[in-house]
Amino acid sequence: MSINPSSAGAPLTPSGVSLPKVTMPALGEMKRQGKPISALTAYDYPTARLVDEAGVDLILVGDSLAMVVLGQENTLSVTVDEMLHHTRAVRRAVRRALVVADMPFGSYHGSIADAVANAVRFVKEAGAEAVKIEGPRVELVRALVDAEIPVVGHLGLTPQSVNRFGGYRVQARTADAVLELQADAFALARAGAGTIVLEGVPREAAAAITAELSVPTIGIGAGPDCNGQILVFHDLVNLTFAPPAKFVRHYADASALFRSAIERYREDVEHRAFPSDAESYHLPARMATGAAGRQATGVPAVGADFDSDEAVVNRDAFEDWAN
Ligand code: KIV
Repeated sequence: MSINPSSAGAPLTPSGVSLPKVTMPALGEMKRQGKPISALTAYDYPTARLVDEAGVDLILVGDSLAMVVLGQENTLSVTVDEMLHHTRAVRRAVRRALVVADMPFGSYHGSIADAVANAVRFVKEAGAEAVKIEGPRVELVRALVDAEIPVVGHLGLTPQSVNRFGGYRVQARTADAVLELQADAFALARAGAGTIVLEGVPREAAAAITAELSVPTIGIGAGPDCNGQILVFHDLVNLTFAPPAKFVRHYADASALFRSAIERYREDVEHRAFPSDAESYHLPARMATGAAGRQATGVPAVGADFDSDEAVVNRDAFEDWAN
């Protein structure tokens, strides 16, 4: 068993990124070396594959799932079972990035024992390599780390506090609030959090905390001075059907791309332009009697020269049968 896998000769992703697994200690090392950490959310297999193959360091199965995938008004109603379901799909796709599961609202707000038991489910049943929890829950972070579960802290505009905050408001806007945020970040780091997400806080506050903190900060709406940045995948590609927050940059317009593809497909179906003959399967040549045979659409007659071993079981078999 290799204890310290070397990156030498490691396979590359399609984007040419080398594959040594990103771990929580590796993120700390990136901070020490001044290398920015890239992070993005993903909630399913295909997007997680794309994000991982693009070389993003950390993939968060965020509870933002509730809003951007499940169409809910806020993040509060998503359940542990829903988060586990999506974390499993992401885990199957990822080879390099650190996979972090967001603990949903209610799953860590009771006893510490219950919270640890819920976190263990994310590791054991879904393959998460760390969990993220919102707020300055220092005792819980200590208990999770004692249970060998790496923790990502999350401070500032914590969306699970939306009702207490009275909306999604930028936090730490006074000197006292900045000091409190700073104290919370230090306490989480001392308790063992491996990295801390800072969301919706003034750039200056995030910069000051980042400069002093022993572990990396990952910002979202916290300015460019954090050790890394995270965005919600659906924000990045404009798939949210809502005006973007100030900190969002659209790197693509997936809404326009998908809308156009779907409309062209519908039009082709309506005009019988899809599928074409070339996109159709045909009876084997030995059964076809000229052009009429090629046009046959029914099931072969009983006793016809049809090899049942060629029965279709998947798309590859379709290809073999048709050629
Ligand atoms: O749920 C989420 O997507 C998050 C990130 C925005 C940090 O918590």
